[in-house]
Amino acid sequence: MNTCCCNYDDYRETTDWLLSHTEQRPKVAIICGSGLGGLGDLLDNKTVCHPNGCSYVHWAVPGHEGQLVFGSLRGRQCVCMQGRFHFYEGYNIHTVTYLVRVFFLLGVETLIVTNAAGGVNGSFNVGDIMLIKDHINMPGFAGQNPLCGHNDERFGVRFLCTSDAYDRDLIALAKQTAEEQGCSTFLQQGVYCMVAGPTFETVAECRVLQLLGADAVGMSTVPEVVVARHCGLRVLGLSLITNKVVTDYASEEKTNHDKVLETTRRRTQDLQRLVSHLIAKI
Ligand code: HPA
Repeated sequence: MNTCCCNYDDYRETTDWLLSHTEQRPKVAIICGSGLGGLGDLLDNKTVCHPNGCSYVHWAVPGHEGQLVFGSLRGRQCVCMQGRFHFYEGYNIHTVTYLVRVFFLLGVETLIVTNAAGGVNGSFNVGDIMLIKDHINMPGFAGQNPLCGHNDERFGVRFLCTSDAYDRDLIALAKQTAEEQGCSTFLQQGVYCMVAGPTFETVAECRVLQLLGADAVGMSTVPEVVVARHCGLRVLGLSLITNKVVTDYASEEKTNHDKVLETTRRRTQDLQRLVSHLIAKI
């Protein structure tokens, strides 16, 4: 059975440990996708925390892609999660989302999630940034929803409405900021579909995703968003389109992780600029 492995005291313990290691009291948390952790390096008055050893926080490789950075970005106190826990790495779905509840207990009100994603919408280009307006929780369809199991009312309700998962005001603010920062020529908006991974999709699977109405596909984000909405955080999601999915059997194109990282390197500055200017307006 998919029972939650952690209880309120575990989340509380990690929260108290973090509170004793930093004086920052962030209102905004940012989860950085693959290769997008550079935002954490931009924070002023940084405290870097490795809560490894606290319940359920065991980054496989603690380091740059496995740590929390507290600090301020354009005057706003933030916590930046450099590296996330992916379901495909074998982490339990409750471990994947563990730190989101810790953010809530820390007093965070807004969660910004970034990820690398494949472009399913044929009009998207590699290097586009997609504001997530909605998601399809494919692992959720298969019973891997982080809210399965006992519901602790201190976090949220048993049956969560997710038709308003992505905050419309934050999307509007992101669009306005993108215009000001000269990013609107590569800004898109659409539906993100989470697959469990770690395989990239077959041609037939990509065609299914198109039929389902997905604009982008990736292997993360949705569990964290579900848990964040459960405890009342406002959410903004941004996908960097790192590749176009293959929907044609005649295509020689092959998706691989190196190409994904190459695109993130190319666009990381733009994404950081967009997010940091946006945070200043929250
Ligand atoms: N599929 C799934 N996840 C991804 C992709 C993709 O094409 N690109 C980056 N993450």
